[in-house]
Amino acid sequence: MRTLTDISRDSAKARREQQDANKGDGPLARDTTAEANRDENRRHARAHESAIKHVTGRAAYIDDIPAPGDALHVALGLSPVAHGRLTRLDLERVKRAPGVVDAITIVDVPGHTDIGPVFPGDPLFVDDEISYVGQTLFAVAATSYKAARLAVKEAVIEIDEQPASLDALAAAEASDVVRPTHVQQRGDWQRALDDAPHVLEGEQFVGGQEHFYLEGQACLVTPSEDEGVVVYTSNQHPSETQKLVAEVLDVPFHAVTVETRRMGGGFGGKETQASPWACIAALVARRTGRAARLRLPRAEDTRATGKRHPFHNRYRLGFDGRGVIQGGDVTVIGDCGYSPDLSEAVVDRAMFHADNAYSLGDARVTGIRARTHTASNTAFRGFGGPQGMMIVEAAMDDIARHVGEDPLTVRKRNLYRPGRDVTHYGQTVEQLDLLAEIIERLEESSDYWQRRRDVSDYNARNPVLKKGLSLTPVKFGISFTAKHLNQAGALLHVYTDGSVMINHGGTEMGQGLHTKVCQVAARELGLDLEQVRITATRTDKVPNTSPTAASSGADLNGMAARDAASQVRERLFDFAAEHYALDREGMRLEDGELIAGHGESERRIAWGELVQAAYLGRISLSAKGFYSTPLIHYDRATGRGRPFYYYAHGAAVSEVMIDTLTGEYRVTRVDILHDVGDSLNPAIDMGQVEGGFIQGMGWLTSEELKWDDKGRLISDGPSTYKIPAFGDLPPVFNVELLQGHPNSQASIYRSKAVGEPPLMLGISVWSALRDALASLVDYRHCPRLDTPATPERVLMVAEALRDSTRAGSTQPETSDDPV
Ligand code: MTE
Ligand code: HPA
Ligand code: MOS
Repeated sequence: MRTLTDISRDSAKARREQQDANKGDGPLARDTTAEANRDENRRHARAHESAIKHVTGRAAYIDDIPAPGDALHVALGLSPVAHGRLTRLDLERVKRAPGVVDAITIVDVPGHTDIGPVFPGDPLFVDDEISYVGQTLFAVAATSYKAARLAVKEAVIEIDEQPASLDALAAAEASDVVRPTHVQQRGDWQRALDDAPHVLEGEQFVGGQEHFYLEGQACLVTPSEDEGVVVYTSNQHPSETQKLVAEVLDVPFHAVTVETRRMGGGFGGKETQASPWACIAALVARRTGRAARLRLPRAEDTRATGKRHPFHNRYRLGFDGRGVIQGGDVTVIGDCGYSPDLSEAVVDRAMFHADNAYSLGDARVTGIRARTHTASNTAFRGFGGPQGMMIVEAAMDDIARHVGEDPLTVRKRNLYRPGRDVTHYGQTVEQLDLLAEIIERLEESSDYWQRRRDVSDYNARNPVLKKGLSLTPVKFGISFTAKHLNQAGALLHVYTDGSVMINHGGTEMGQGLHTKVCQVAARELGLDLEQVRITATRTDKVPNTSPTAASSGADLNGMAARDAASQVRERLFDFAAEHYALDREGMRLEDGELIAGHGESERRIAWGELVQAAYLGRISLSAKGFYSTPLIHYDRATGRGRPFYYYAHGAAVSEVMIDTLTGEYRVTRVDILHDVGDSLNPAIDMGQVEGGFIQGMGWLTSEELKWDDKGRLISDGPSTYKIPAFGDLPPVFNVELLQGHPNSQASIYRSKAVGEPPLMLGISVWSALRDALASLVDYRHCPRLDTPATPERVLMVAEALRDSTRAGSTQPETSDDPV
C-alpha cells in the first residue's frame, strides 16, 4: 500500500520534471522550506483530503453525480441586448420542439421572483426591463441537453432596445448608483492637504476579472417528499441557496436541502451567483416531478455571471520631503454592473484597503457604487480589497519618484508604526513590527539592493530591453465586514468502531478547508487523520451557515469543529474517570489512546475500546460545535470600528523585463514571504500562496475583459481571455511562509487565513512593470499604467514616454498622463 507521503513525493518529482520540461534548463521554480522546519512540516503538511481523487479523476463534481434515468436537462434563453424592454416572449414553438417537457418564464414562479442576495434587484427571469446581455429570459427543460439547447432557438423574442450605460465613470458622475455612497474619514484631510509640503494626484483604471473556475456553474435538483427538493450544487453558500430556492418555490426552508461536496473552483464566483441556476432547476423539478440538471456552457457562464468589479480610483495626497503621507483624499468607484448583489460590501472592502499597509494620515476615503448595464459584479478573491490597494500602491511609486527615492524606501517609511497606527476607519493596527520584519527579511533574501543596482546598470546600458523591480507588501483584513456572517457550526459523530465523521458549514473549492478541519478534529481527539472523514456540506446537517468566503473558512469552521470535538472529548474524560477509576486531572487523548496519570501510575486505554465502553455506558458520542468571532464591530453610520479580527500580511519582490519596442514582457523572478501565523497545513498554505500570487498576476497582466460597444462580452472563453498557464510561472519563484510568528489573536491554533491575501502579492508585478517603464524617463516620474497591463498597454506607455522625452517636454508633476 502506497502512503500519501510516497505519492506526494512522486508528484513533487513529476512536477519538477514538468517544470524543467517547460523551462528548458532554467533555474528551479522554488526553494523548499528551511531544513529547521522539516519535522514540524511533516506533521502538518498533509496532502489534500481529495488529492488522489483529484489527480485520478475520481473526485465527483456536479456533472459526475448519477441522476435518475428520466432526469431533464435545462437550457436557458439569455438576453442578446444590454438594455431594453421585453415586449414579446412567445414560447409556443419552444414547447412543441422535440424532447421538450417544460418551458418557464417569470409568470411560472410561484414564490419570490427577486433573488437579490442582500438587497433586491436580481429578477430570476426578466419580467419587463432587460439590464444586461446574458440576463435570463426563460428556461427550457428537455429529455436531452441537445434538445433543450436546440429548443431555446425556437423562441420568439421582441425587445425594444434602449441605449446601454456602459461607462462606470459617467454613471458615477450622474449619481447612477446601485447603493448609496459611503465615506470613511479620520482627522482634517483638507487641512492635511493644505499644510503638506508636497501634493500629488493620480488616477487609475483597474480592470475586472473573470473567475474562470474549471467547473462552471452547475446543479442537479431532485424532487423529494411532499413539496421538497434536494439541490446538489457547485456552491460557496449552500444556506443562501436553500433560502432562495425555498422562497422561489414558496415552501418552508426545511423542505429544501442543499448539498455541496466540492467545487472545481469558486474564487468568489459561487458566493451568490450559484443560486439562480439552483432556483430554476428546482422550479423544473417541482413542476415536472423529475430530476433536473442545469449547467452553463462556458460562453454563457461568462456572460450570465458577474466578475471582479473594475474600479476607477483617484488620489490626492499630501506628503513631506521624505515622502511620508500626511493626509488627503481617495475615491474608489466600483463598476457594480446592473444590481447591488454584494457590491455594498465589495466597495466597503476596497475602502478598507485603500491604505494597504500604510498610514494615510488624516484622510477621507469615498466609495461609489456605479451602475452599468453589465452582469452584476460580485465577489472575487480579495473582494474589492485588491482594487482598493492598487491606488495607494500607485501613489507609493509616484511619491517615491517625486521625492527622488527608491520606492521601497518610501513604502517602508509609510508603513503603520507606533504613533501612526490607526487606520482611516479607526481600527488600531496590531503586530506593528511584523510587516517591517517581513520586508527586511525579503530585502535580504531576495538581494533587493544589489539587484536594484544591477537593474539600473542594465537599463543604463540597454536602450530597448528594460528591467523593473518592485517590492510590495500586503496587509489584508480578516473577517466578514458584515458582522453577522462571522459565525460557524460543526457536527461531529464518533461511531462505535472509533471512526469519526465531521461536518461543518464551510464548502470545499480546492482550498483545502476540509483537510484542515479534519486535522483539527483529529488533533483534538488524538487520532490519525485517516480516522476522521468529512462528507458533503449539507444544510440539514449544519444549518444557517455563512458563505465560505472572506478567507475565513478555516478560522470559523475550524473553531466550530474544535468546539464539537472538545465537547466529546470532555464527555469521554468524565466517563473514563468514573468507569476506569482514573484521575480526571491531566487526562489526554494522544496517538489513538486515552492516557491518564504520569510515570508509574500512567494508564492507557485504546480509543476503540474507550468508545465502545462509552457507548455501552450510554454516553452521547456526537456533538455540535459553534463559533462566533469576538471583538469585531463596524458602524457604517460613522464609518468607524474594528471590522477585522486581525490582519494577514505578506510581501513579494518581482522582477520583470520588458521589450519597449513591442511591449512584450516576462516576469523573471519572484520572491515571496507570507504570513499565515502558525500554519495549519504548510503544504496547503504554500499552494494557496503560489496560486493566489499567480491569479493576482494574471488579473493585472494578461486577463482582459472586453465588451463591444453594445455591451456584449467578447472575451468569453480561453481563446480570447488569457489566464496564466504553466509557461507564465516565473523561472525563479521562491516562496516561503513566515516562521515563528503565531497570530496575535486567539485564532484556530494561532494560524491565519490564507485564501485571499496572497492574490494581492501580484501587485508587485504591475509595480515592477511601472518601474521598468519609469527607466525610460530616468525615473523622474512613474507613468500611469492601467490594468490589465497587457503588452499593448505597456507598449503605449513606452511610446508615450519616448515621445515626451524626444519632444523635450517637461515631465508632468502628476502621474496621470492619459493612456
Ligand atoms: N483556492 C482554490 N483552490 N479554489 C478556490 O476557489 N477560492 C479563494 C481562496 N482560495 C479558492 C481558493 C477564495 S475567493 C476564498 S474567499 C477562500 O479560498 C475561501 O476558502 P477559505 O475561507 O477556506 O480559505
Ligand atoms: N468578504 C467576502 N465575502 C463577503 C464579505 C466579505 O467581507 N461580506 C459578505 N460576503
Ligand atoms: Mo472569496 S471572494 O471571499 O469567495
